[in-house]
Amino acid sequence: MTDYKLIIETMKGIVANCNYPISVMANGAAILYNELSDLNWAGFYLMEDGKLILGPFQGKLACMEIQVGKGVCGTAVAERKVQRVANVHEFPGHIACDSASNSEIVIPIYKDGEVFGVLDIDSPEFNRFSEEDEKNLTEFVRVLETGI
Ligand code: SME
Repeated sequence: MTDYKLIIETMKGIVANCNYPISVMANGAAILYNELSDLNWAGFYLMEDGKLILGPFQGKLACMEIQVGKGVCGTAVAERKVQRVANVHEFPGHIACDSASNSEIVIPIYKDGEVFGVLDIDSPEFNRFSEEDEKNLTEFVRVLETGI
């Protein structure tokens, strides 16, 4: 059982003590990757020049640019909506960075009303992310937004 209370309280401590968004996101990726079970990737893509570029993450090498509207991440930006995908192989246009990934959740991050980037988490398990995970990870992102 994931200790989201610990994760969210830790994130509150991180943003309270650090003014550097890259450092906040790097530690954000580290805490998620280490505290959630059955993950193969956790990290951030950031909006730059109208596209998503790779940000701080934990896991294997990943693609460095994603166009808005493409893949799970680009769809989250285009629709400004969380994408909780039980089986990535059934998601049209899914971008397979790591062939181990079978399910994924992507949560948009906002700054001043604009999409700043996304939190992207991948799992080798099918249907890894529940509604409860979505609720808690969204809260995690709301805390992170106070530090970017
Ligand atoms: N699967 C993502 C690409 C990023 S990797 O999962 C790290 C997508 O379809 O947007």
